[in-house]
Order: sequence, then C-alpha cells, then structure tokens
Amino acid sequence: MSKPKRAAQRWVCQACGAVSSGWFGKCPSCEAWNSIEQELPPPNPGERPAGSSVVVASTDAQTQVDSQPRRPCGLAEVDRVLGGGLVPGSVVLLGGPPGIGKSTLLLQASVGLARRTGIVLYASGEESIAQVGSRCARLAASHKNLLLMAEQRIEEVLAQATDRIRGAAGQPPLGAVIVDSVQTVYSTAQDGLPGNITQIRAVTSQLVAFAKHHGVPVVVVGHVTKDGQLAGPRLLEHLVDAVLSFEGDEERATRLLRATKNRFGSTQELGVFEMRGDGLREIANPSEAFLTHREAPAIGSCVTATLEGSRPLLLEVQALLAASFGNPRRTCVGVDPIRLAMLMAVLDRHAGLFVLDQDVFVNVVGGMRLSEPASDLAVLLAIASSHRRQPLAPGTIAFGEIGLTGELRPVPRSETRVQEAARLGLKRVLLPAAPKQAARALKDSLDSLHLGASVELRFARTVAEAIELGFA
Ligand code: TYD
Ligand code: MG
Repeated sequence: MSKPKRAAQRWVCQACGAVSSGWFGKCPSCEAWNSIEQELPPPNPGERPAGSSVVVASTDAQTQVDSQPRRPCGLAEVDRVLGGGLVPGSVVLLGGPPGIGKSTLLLQASVGLARRTGIVLYASGEESIAQVGSRCARLAASHKNLLLMAEQRIEEVLAQATDRIRGAAGQPPLGAVIVDSVQTVYSTAQDGLPGNITQIRAVTSQLVAFAKHHGVPVVVVGHVTKDGQLAGPRLLEHLVDAVLSFEGDEERATRLLRATKNRFGSTQELGVFEMRGDGLREIANPSEAFLTHREAPAIGSCVTATLEGSRPLLLEVQALLAASFGNPRRTCVGVDPIRLAMLMAVLDRHAGLFVLDQDVFVNVVGGMRLSEPASDLAVLLAIASSHRRQPLAPGTIAFGEIGLTGELRPVPRSETRVQEAARLGLKRVLLPAAPKQAARALKDSLDSLHLGASVELRFARTVAEAIELGFA
C-alpha cells in the first residue's frame, strides 16, 4: 500500500487571497505588508462527504429568491440603494470614515426594521449599552424589538442571535443582526487583536455563514482609512453580498449613500441625507437641496441634469477664470481634471474662446461629483460665461456630451432630465440636437405632463451653437 501523501501547506495572502510559494514580508501580488499566512490546502474533491450539496435547475432558482421577500427598513433612501430592502441571508457591509454617521444611520434603519420584521439585534463593539441607548433616545429610535448589546466576541453575538432565530418567549423571530463594527469585534477561536487581518476575516466568514445558514440579513459596519479604502483586507469586500459607502464632508451636513457592490441590485442608486441635531433626515428631492435660489442669474454658473441611478439630479457647476501668473492652473472640485483640460482645449479650438492662458477654477455646488460625460456642456458653458463675464439666459439648464471635434452628442434618458428641469421651474433646456422623431418624443413627453408650454427646448449641434443659444 502506498503511503498517503502529506498535504502540502500553502502560503496565502490574507488581504488579496493570492497564493505564493513561500512567506514574504510583502505580498508580491497586492503589496500588503505582513499579510501572508500558512494555510492547509482545501480538501481534495474525493475527500468531501458526497451528496451534501443542493443542486437546483436554473428555472427554479428564482422562486427561491421570491419566496423570501426583502425586508425594507422604511428609510426609502436606504431601501432604494439596497435594491428594495435587505435580502434574507445576505451580508451588507456599510463603510465610511469615522464620525460620518454610520452608527446613526444603522440605528435609524434598525428601528424601522424592528417595527416591520421582528427582533433586530444591534451589537456594538465600540460603545456601551448606555451610549447606544442615549443615542436611541436622542434619535427617538427605540422599540421593544430593537435589542442592544455591547459585545466584542463574535461568537457571543451569534449565540444571542441564534437563540432568537425562531422567536424566544413570546417574541417575534429574528429580523436582522447589526454588528458595529467589523474592526472592533473578534473571534475567540483566533489569535490576534480585533481589527487585524486574520480577525476581520474570521469575523466576516462567521457572519456570512450565520446569515446563509439561517436566512437572516446581517449588516456590518467597516471603517474606512484616510484614502477612502475600507480598512482591512480587500477580501472583506469579496466575502459580503453588498458594500455600501456612506460619504460626505465634514463642513457640510449632506451625506450620500451609494452601493459600490450589490449582488441583489444596481450600484447606480444614490441615497441623500442631511445630518441634523436629531439624526439623519432623508432628502427626497435632492435637486431642490443642491440648487442655489437666486433672483438674477450669476456669471460663471450653469445648471445641469445628471442621472444618479434611476433618479435625475439637478446640480450647479461654477467656474471662474482669472489672470494667470506663470503656468496656468486648473483647479477643480467635483469634475475630472482630464475632462476639464479637454473641454478647455475644445473651447479654445472650436468656440474661439482663448481660455488656455488663464487660471481656471471649477466647482460643483454641494460637494457633489459630476461623473457623467453628459455634464460636459454645463462645465463648458460655466467657463464660457466666466470668460464673457455674462450670465447664461435666465432659467437655463444644459446637458450633453462634447466630442473633440466640438460636436454635441446625445445622452441617455433626455426625457427624465428635461422633466426634472421642468418640474423645478427651469425654462430653457439646452441639449444636443436629436433626430426629428426623438425631438418630437421629447416634446410629447413634456406635453403629457402639461409642461410643454412652460419649457423651451434649444437643440444645438456644436459647441459654438450651444454658446450662441445659451446666452441669447
Ligand atoms: P456616528 O453615527 O457616531 O458616526 P460613525 O458611526 O460613522 O462614526 O455619528 C457621528 C457624528 O454625527 C457625531 O459627530 C455627531 C453627529 N450627530 C449629529 O449631528 N446628530 C445626531 O443626531 C447624531 C446621533 C450624531
Ligand atoms: Mg460608530
């Protein structure tokens, strides 16, 4: 009989999962330090117990999802970003810098979930029960089904959760588990301090196993480092079903919630909130919140309609040109600097505006970012307005992608953008020329909302035409 071969050990990076030939101080693949650990290889296929896996026909698989309805938390902004609520059995990671309001958001969402779905276990590894409790009181977010726990041992949290799965002693069943945060809880089965790579991985895999096994959604908070990366291994993002990021800057009260990964929905949706003394308030009409209301139009300003997932959002772009001493500087906030350089060159070449020798500053109001090419035209017109020292025609809104030859290109879902502009009382819409049929359809869509008479559509083929129409 031949001697069974001893299973070879493998060296695996705990940050990126790359397998290497031996130990390195720095992972050759992702360059993380001290992340490589020795692991036993996965069992050979032949060694697995046979017949324990479930195989389902793809035609029947959908019914498995439908049989477990999503659990909405009642905060429409959160539910929309999730794709309609929490999916039973899923693990959601909520990332964001310290102090942005992650705990506040989760507490508000938890109380909504507790009202709708049953017991919500909120385990904090950072704060005492008294601290969380006082926040509950401040946010008016308490409910008999929202249970608080101050615990750092993940096994303890999951034991408490498991006891409540079917509903203990006259209580409803478990609706969700919240863990705040993955960096402050640890597994007693592992060595190392909370927050280190091995611990984060152990905690996350236990949460994933719990969620999948019991069909209960789990939300876990993750801190983000200064450069915006989730602290801990990238592997964390691979393990969970959805990654939400909560953003905003310290000077402003506006907070944005986006999905950067979502196995059960789109990653295009945006949730908008305002941080107030009594917690986060949802902003259902962000366009109104971001627009400046002025008596007279301002020089160097142009409003555009951008799409954030299913929703249109009106944003104001501001530009200022100033005499340059030395090398002209281009400073932009919320706009891609490469895109800005391209637009400046197009203005110079195709609109006869000599802007290349000046310092230019561009800003998107409200700390927002313009990531769509559809916002090109508004950036260009704001710069043109500053150059001409003349405001755009009152009530103007502009959108359109700009090509290097100075042509305006149509953008997706013009109707949605035009309707949002009309809804907020903007009268002149400057947009790329469209074939007759498309232009007709656009007008009809406005007529159907009885807005056809109040909105003027100005179609332009080129940058030069757009500038002419924009100031007329
Ligand atoms: P928190 O939710 O603790 O942030 P995180 O969990 O992301 O670290 O909220 C932190 C900040 O929010 C804190 O500086 C105070 C502010 N805040 C309010 O302005 N209003 C409120 O009602 C609450 C609870 C917090
Ligand atoms: Mg917190």
